[in-house]
Amino acid sequence: MESRPHVALIGMMGSGKSTVGLWLARSEGLRFVDLDAAIEEREGRSISEIFAADGEERFRDIEQEVLAQCLESSEQLVVSCGGGVVLRPENRAQLRDRAWVCWLRASIDTLGQRVSSGDSRPLLGDDPIADLTAISSARSDLYTETAHEIVDVDGLEAEQVAEQIRRVWPRPVATT
Ligand code: S3P
Repeated sequence: MESRPHVALIGMMGSGKSTVGLWLARSEGLRFVDLDAAIEEREGRSISEIFAADGEERFRDIEQEVLAQCLESSEQLVVSCGGGVVLRPENRAQLRDRAWVCWLRASIDTLGQRVSSGDSRPLLGDDPIADLTAISSARSDLYTETAHEIVDVDGLEAEQVAEQIRRVWPRPVATT
């Protein structure tokens, strides 16, 4: 049997996880899962609707369930996770155990340019830069704790980030 840990991308909203994940999956011939999209598909409603109707804790419960299901897959996956996936210790432990985890680290400038005010992101209010700054500093240690590798994405296109990940990703080796 071959050991097949998944690749999981973590980082703040706007760090490019979904676009990079898609590039990476395509270039490696792996299946791509966007965790937020998987949640929306399961629930039949958008992330914003879940937050508005049921609140953040319920969203985190669903996120935890969908992540666990995803990581149980016997097919090797590239998974892009929502920015807050690291908030729960269970998720951090699962990710580290079952995936090779890469943090796409971005400056607030980069995040601010990519997360426009028109985006439907329930955690951002009238001052997205202030919110991104507060959220990023509150989560920085959690991203560090969860990641096996860090890639700095400032100034890079998604394709270039995917290429950097491919260079540092320790591919699974056959175990028997
Ligand atoms: C969140 C990030 C979002 C989404 C939800 C909560 C967060 O995903 O999961 O709005 O807590 O940072 P992206 O990081 O893909 O935008």
